[in-house]
Amino acid sequence: MSSQILYNMVGVPYRQARLDGGRVFIDAVAQTRAYPLVVKVNKAGICRADVKEVQGTRTIKPDEGSVFGHEFIGKIFHSSVDGLEPGMPVTFVPNVTRDRTTGFAQYFFINGSNEQLRQAILPLSPDLTDRDWLPEPFSTVINSIDSFMRHARLSNLTGFKVGVLGAGTAGLEFGFLTTFLGADATIFNRGQARIDFARKIGFFESSKIRAMSEHTQFANSFDVVVVAPSIINHDILAIAAELVKNEGYIDLYGGLSQGLTFFDGDVDVYNIRRLGKSQTCTFNGKRFTSCGAQGSGCRDFLKAFEYFGRHRTSFPLDRLISTRIAFADLPATIMRMASSTDPIDFPGRVLVEFND
Ligand SMILES: NC(=O)c1ccc[n+]([C@@H]2O[C@H](COP(=O)([O-])OP(=O)(O)OC[C@H]3O[C@@H](n4cnc5c(N)ncnc54)[C@H](OP(=O)(O)O)[C@@H]3O)[C@@H](O)[C@H]2O)c1
Repeated sequence: MSSQILYNMVGVPYRQARLDGGRVFIDAVAQTRAYPLVVKVNKAGICRADVKEVQGTRTIKPDEGSVFGHEFIGKIFHSSVDGLEPGMPVTFVPNVTRDRTTGFAQYFFINGSNEQLRQAILPLSPDLTDRDWLPEPFSTVINSIDSFMRHARLSNLTGFKVGVLGAGTAGLEFGFLTTFLGADATIFNRGQARIDFARKIGFFESSKIRAMSEHTQFANSFDVVVVAPSIINHDILAIAAELVKNEGYIDLYGGLSQGLTFFDGDVDVYNIRRLGKSQTCTFNGKRFTSCGAQGSGCRDFLKAFEYFGRHRTSFPLDRLISTRIAFADLPATIMRMASSTDPIDFPGRVLVEFND
């Protein structure tokens, strides 16, 4: 098949979400240019980063773009790329090309070289589409743990004690993954709703899901502490430093505000996570290594497919979908999630379903 064919859906109306000044709308729009690859979206997830974009609180550097609507599964509607054929179930890797539209839409349009498109649109086998799950958030968790294991020169986590701060979708996925790799994981969360949800999914023993306020009982207990809440601030970093063993690791994953520094000597924690670095730190007389990673690539997605496809009971990712909404309800739902006065907070992921 020629690689030069562009799909001329120019002028054909479809429904797409639009974020404008903190409000979300669904418009009937039409493409004004042709694209080499078009995906019909079936299911999308609402990520905390989407909510932050609605709030205007997501720090976006010039080399990053909007991520509004980046977690989805769909079917190829049109493709001029060999190996990506119409009808194939696929998912999307966000960090490959910025020349694309939002996945909060009936159709997703993406442009790039054939190589970029093969990295950005990955086929899903039937066993990966038989249940509802979202590969993208899990792939970022895989990248974070792989990055930590590279820095620590580890091939598995057998005998490791892992503390996870935050029982959001990511925190629970860190629990699944580190348990699979041999660790004994304990997850801490601030609010009761996510503690209840984490216990309800039935994977972790109840004693492994703790209130954040109980952290004082676990000082110096963990070989690695993963920091996974939506806001990493000085309080959370101080808790991580208290929980980690001397010479242990702190893996930075959650949301960081630009320029955040902490630990002795004002360590640049923001750039450690953003640039995937590691640095020896000290705090309250303890020495540990801080590391982190941001985003994910094709390789992390392929690992996510393997874990979910082959080890279903170790990775009950479908149980993390707690709420389902129709696409028509996306604006009202996401604006309630982003509200500064009356926010609604769903433990687990909200799945947006496109039924036409
Ligand atoms: N490094 C990466 O590559 C990467 C990729 C994607 C996302 N992220 C970041 O990871 C974050 C978490 O993602 P998620 O999907 O797990 O989000 P989520 O499901 O919305 O969960 C948010 C978590 O943050 C906790 N939290 C929020 N504010 C807090 C505070 N002030 N103090 C303590 N805990 C607080 C929540 O606890 P409560 O239940 O107490 O509210 C909850 O555990 C995102 O916000 C994003 O910034 C990082």
